[in-house]
Amino acid sequence: MNIAFRPAAVKTELIGKLENRTATIGIVGLGYVGLPLSLRFAEVGYQVLGMDIDAAKVESLNGGRSYIKHIGSDAVAKARARRFEATSDYSRAAQCDALIICVPTPLTRHREPDMQFVIGTIESLLPHLHAGQIVSLESTTYPGTTEEEFRPRIESRGFEVGVEVFLAFSPEREDPGNPKYVTRTIPKVCGGSTPACLEVAVALYDQVVDNVVPVSSTRVAEMTKLLENIHRSVNIGLVNEMKIVCDRMGIDIHEVIRAAATKPFGFVPYYPGPGLGGHCIPIDPFYLTWKAREYGVDTRFIELAGEINHHMPQWVIAKLGAALNERAKPVKGSRCLVLGIAYKKNVDDMRESPAVEMMELLVRQGAIVDYSDPHVPVFPKMREYRFDLKSVDLTPENIASYDVLLLATNHDAFDYRVIQNHAKLVVDTRGVYPKGGPNIVKA
Ligand SMILES: NC(=O)c1ccc[n+]([C@@H]2O[C@H](COP(=O)([O-])OP(=O)(O)OC[C@H]3O[C@@H](n4cnc5c(N)ncnc54)[C@H](O)[C@@H]3O)[C@@H](O)[C@H]2O)c1
Repeated sequence: MNIAFRPAAVKTELIGKLENRTATIGIVGLGYVGLPLSLRFAEVGYQVLGMDIDAAKVESLNGGRSYIKHIGSDAVAKARARRFEATSDYSRAAQCDALIICVPTPLTRHREPDMQFVIGTIESLLPHLHAGQIVSLESTTYPGTTEEEFRPRIESRGFEVGVEVFLAFSPEREDPGNPKYVTRTIPKVCGGSTPACLEVAVALYDQVVDNVVPVSSTRVAEMTKLLENIHRSVNIGLVNEMKIVCDRMGIDIHEVIRAAATKPFGFVPYYPGPGLGGHCIPIDPFYLTWKAREYGVDTRFIELAGEINHHMPQWVIAKLGAALNERAKPVKGSRCLVLGIAYKKNVDDMRESPAVEMMELLVRQGAIVDYSDPHVPVFPKMREYRFDLKSVDLTPENIASYDVLLLATNHDAFDYRVIQNHAKLVVDTRGVYPKGGPNIVKA
């Protein structure tokens, strides 16, 4: 009998394929989120079809080469030797039993959700959908996206969601560069469009993650991810504000945090810095701000934290200018070396990096700017910034030749003793030099 006439059989058959790993897993968007997930599905034995519009990434991955620093080419080559393949051909989505979407969700220039990638992806997949597939969105987004943008589109093809095609939202919790957690050991929240959708989604993720956390709806799953990231953004905003107050009072915020963190309950340490970076924390909170307006609600905490965090690069550069002034030097014409331009330590990811904004602010004030970052040998092409620069080697001679070193990102690869011993002036935004020193300014 044709399974289309026995709706329950569609779900049972799909769950069966997922559980016995004969299903083909399609992963759309092979970036920081989609690539590790693809490798994990390949590792446990699935046929995995990774789809990306970037032909260069597809070619590199099919050649067994990783293009993301913290993901080794050996891992990609191993997955290739199993059953992982990359493609730009959306029509191959028809071969997949599961379609997992991990495409970007940035903000527009007006700081509103830019849904072009997510919507573009589901539109491109639509012609290739068929009964017996699950579609799971992983991109961070506002509550309601799955129900309001995906479900009607899938239904427009005549499919009954939860009966023929299954729909879920399961946010990613990738922490690039953190060796303590891998895809398997990070619990995965999962919400379905219907109870049957959730059942299929849990069967999908149970195969690759130790702990799947089911929730009652896709909207709860979407909001969970936002809460996690807003929690970080607001707490970092708070500690950045505390830093400014401490600075005025002559107190070292890092010493205060270390002391407060000895409290065994009720306190979680967050650390100040030169501003927020990365694809998530500076961006995701504004997905909720935008959606909340539709409900007549202002998200004041989120906006305030955004304002404080957004202001940090300017605050740091003002401190740097004051420190140079103390040494009878103007910013204009000074040689500045920015240490660490990736947005956080030990990674090569430059997205939304506050270091780059500080470079821009320095250039605007007439400084001569270079950078040193062992993870970023050549300054990459960025949407908003252009620097024709290569990473400077941190030799004692090079260090001594700059008027000021701005420590923006505290990579482990830096030799902090050599830096302190040879620099005329170091502006430390990360609390690397707790004891300070005549040539150290904390900012
Ligand atoms: N990077 C993280 O640490 C992280 C953590 C949790 C959640 N997220 C979320 O996951 C999503 C993806 O983030 P990312 O960091 O992996 O982004 P990314 O930019 O590293 O990767 C996205 C990939 O999608 C591809 N792409 C774009 N449009 C496409 C389309 N229409 N079809 C196919 N491929 C397309 C791009 O070429 C790119 O390779 C975002 O919503 C992000 O907020 C990211």
